[in-house]
Amino acid sequence: MSNKHLTIPKIFMLAGLIILSAGLLFGLTGALQYIVPGFLKQFLSFEKTRPLHVSAILFWIITGSSGAVFSYLQQSTGKKIYSVLLAKIQCYIFSACIVLIFISYCIGIFGGREYWEFPPALGLPIAIAWVLFLFNYLKSVSGFKNQPVYVWMWLTGIVFFLFTFLESYLWIFPYFRNNIVNDMTIQWKSYGSMVGSWNMLIYGSSIFLMEKIMGVSSYSRTRLAFLMYFLGLFNLMFNWGHHIYTLPTHNYIKHVSYIVSMTELLIFGKIIYQWKSSLDSAKKYGHYAAYSLLLSADAWVFLTLALSILMSVPAINVYTHGTHFTVAHAMGATIGINSLLLLAFASDILMQPPAISNKKFKISLWTVNIALFVFWISLIAAGIQKARWQMSTEKIPFSVMMLEQRPIFIIFFIAGLVLTIGLLLIIYPLIKWPLMSSDKTGKQVVA
Ligand code: HEM
Repeated sequence: MSNKHLTIPKIFMLAGLIILSAGLLFGLTGALQYIVPGFLKQFLSFEKTRPLHVSAILFWIITGSSGAVFSYLQQSTGKKIYSVLLAKIQCYIFSACIVLIFISYCIGIFGGREYWEFPPALGLPIAIAWVLFLFNYLKSVSGFKNQPVYVWMWLTGIVFFLFTFLESYLWIFPYFRNNIVNDMTIQWKSYGSMVGSWNMLIYGSSIFLMEKIMGVSSYSRTRLAFLMYFLGLFNLMFNWGHHIYTLPTHNYIKHVSYIVSMTELLIFGKIIYQWKSSLDSAKKYGHYAAYSLLLSADAWVFLTLALSILMSVPAINVYTHGTHFTVAHAMGATIGINSLLLLAFASDILMQPPAISNKKFKISLWTVNIALFVFWISLIAAGIQKARWQMSTEKIPFSVMMLEQRPIFIIFFIAGLVLTIGLLLIIYPLIKWPLMSSDKTGKQVVA
């Protein structure tokens, strides 16, 4: 039996990588529509490409992280997951939903909110699939006593994603929808915490992968690991207020969030402190593609955390709110951290032996990092210009401001194009290899 069987974790990862590739092309189209507003306007206007892009990206993150949790849970317990069938149903529901979502957007049917703009009825199968994930996870973990930190992080991530996902649909009830301030507070709160929940899944998996590469299992049982876990949980539950500083709601929410957001400085400090040792380890483990991706993500944690801590200061947030700073923050984090970490898991799970950091891979990864940096800086520059426009007393029309931004958006598009090429160069072998000769019997076994 060859080790290229399409196991459940591999199916999740492959589905995720295919959705990500589509998401990249929609992002590229959206960026082109910044500079050529009429581009594809008749059948794929920006109102469609943006949700197509963002929903695809979110499904990449939840599908990829489900695959990583299933694979690493089995590797850490040494046992098969409780039910392959439930995991298959979860994956097929995700895949069917994203196809229906793409169709609904392309034919112009929306009805949802912010990151989930699709018709709310499609939220139900996603919630059901997630309940199956939770049940399968709980049944697969043999008790929570003396477990390494990542087992707790996965549990926290799965539970809080379900909670915040359901919370993000409270607007369907008139009681919440009829009070705009409460409605928006809950909206931004649920999305802020939802990001925290999928970060728990991804950071838990990166701790497991780091230990696997280094052949140790000590860190995930240390006090520091659990301290960082509780700090992450604390932020997941209470830092979301920095999304609503501009809303006329209770001041104590903003003050608590401001203080909690600043505790992220501790994570920032830890990264700086540990950077040297991770560089030393790079000499030893840098030949693993997964390790190079983990290291790149570490650098992006540093950069995006610096920006998000700045944006969490109310006096600065009043300028950045509603500008491309938010897009820089969101994409910096979901590309530089989430996606690079998920690609690290994919290169470890889909390729056996795990992918090697050969010359082609190194060039692709450097292309991604440099293009992403230019991409990120261009969004920050667009944010500064828009913030100045928002605060200016000269009443310059929006269209004039957008026209003045055009040179920045051209840089954004070119950097986005190079970034897309770099990412696709990393994605393609990860999709091709396992599919090239999956087991002739077609039998699926758990890795
Ligand atoms: C792994 C890759 C990517 C991820 C994870 C990602 C993620 C995201 C997210 C989360 C948003 C919503 C931001 C918000 O809250 O407003 C977004 C918006 C956007 N992204 Fe991406 N993105 C990726 C790649 C790209 C690429 C390569 C391009 C262009 C070349 C791109 C272009 C855009 C555009 C135009 C928007 C809409 C910004 C707006 O609201 O005006 N994205 N992306």
